[in-house]
Amino acid sequence: MGSGKVLVVHPGGVLRGRVAPPGDKSISHRAILLAAMARGESRVENLLVAGVTRPMLEALTALGAPWSLTDTTLEVASPGFRAWRTPDRSLYCGHSATTMRLLAGALAAAGVPAVLDGSPGLRRRPMRRVVAPLQRMGVPIQDTDGRPPLRLAARSPDRPLRGGVFPLEVASAQVKSAILLAGLAAADPVEVREPGPSRDHTERMLRSVGVRVDQGPGWVRLTPPEGPLPPLRLRVPGDISSAAFLIVAGLIVPGSEVLLEGVELNPTRTGLLDALRAMGARVRVEPLGEQGGEPVGNIHVAHTPDLRGTRVEGALVVRMIDEFPIFAVAAACARGVTEVRDAEELRYKESDRIAQLVTQLRRLGVDVEERPDGFVIRGGRPVQGGDVDAQGDHRLAMALAVAGLAAQGPVRVHNGDMYRESYPAFVEDLRILGATIEEI
Ligand code: S3P
Repeated sequence: MGSGKVLVVHPGGVLRGRVAPPGDKSISHRAILLAAMARGESRVENLLVAGVTRPMLEALTALGAPWSLTDTTLEVASPGFRAWRTPDRSLYCGHSATTMRLLAGALAAAGVPAVLDGSPGLRRRPMRRVVAPLQRMGVPIQDTDGRPPLRLAARSPDRPLRGGVFPLEVASAQVKSAILLAGLAAADPVEVREPGPSRDHTERMLRSVGVRVDQGPGWVRLTPPEGPLPPLRLRVPGDISSAAFLIVAGLIVPGSEVLLEGVELNPTRTGLLDALRAMGARVRVEPLGEQGGEPVGNIHVAHTPDLRGTRVEGALVVRMIDEFPIFAVAAACARGVTEVRDAEELRYKESDRIAQLVTQLRRLGVDVEERPDGFVIRGGRPVQGGDVDAQGDHRLAMALAVAGLAAQGPVRVHNGDMYRESYPAFVEDLRILGATIEEI
């Protein structure tokens, strides 16, 4: 998978300077969709404009919510979700499960018939987890053997959806969000219960447009609003999941000192910082207040030659669910054993991240063992140069490239240009900090 480009990473540099990571992926997805669900003219600044957000923007066009993009500022003029039109072809969600699952919830609220499909990689991802609760709400939706494509039939507006309590087996912000978005058209409140603290950006954004959303430990309840949603005005904070690659790069490359500016610090997303601190990492957070209903700050990182192994399990896994590829690279450079448990969900991401981390990191000489729900890394052995493959996974591509910065010889990441999915300036930003990377 990928276009076949290779990232060639040369070790030996020192990383110094400051970078503002791109707009947060999760918040960008939600902002695009809510701007289209709202009635009126919405404006979103610092949007993530990347492979992963394109399909959501295209979906807006198909649903009759015109938009324009000027650099990273998005303007949407929408009639509101109750006036969306029926798309004349299937909505292609690319590689993005967030797009598919969130759109399913929004289309359920709209009652618009549609087919949601995606890339071969997306067609392997589990969808029953979102289809089953939506069906319980009365949404006429079907999956295909538990996977995409998803098919929604038309629903008449005088048949509102059913509310109720929806317990999730696995903590998932995407599933929770789909239920909440569908709940906007329900007759009674919807309550989602989860076993762990998944990201709460949907809740925060809905509240910012006046929707009543109550939440407590393990539950969130949405009360369906009476009128249309008012337009959205928002500046998206920097993505901590993109910053994560530069944070770990700063920790493992000798002599480095890096500042990441304007990063989103929602506590449901900062698990990596806690795990790195437990390893003795020199990471300092400078809070800067709130932006768009989310806490933001700067993150200062300095090379830490004496990182030590740690254990990650339970709720911490959910709070750093997207960071395991880069966390594994930090663990490889730390002395002692790092153990990850309770993380079976990693097998259902853009790749089977447990299997792929083990396969690819072994190619660089890392001592890593696969477990059904995680992995064990015996760190401290020098990372070797060599050839690895991103396996269609943007985060694997970036993590392996960062490993190359601290390796004994060049690392070639095949299909490495997958990074453009979520962090188009990744190579450029690393070069600004002083890294030597070629894309050939
Ligand atoms: C996301 C939720 C997480 C995460 C994904 C983005 C979101 O997925 O891995 O990258 O924006 O809601 P799950 O909901 O499947 O845990």
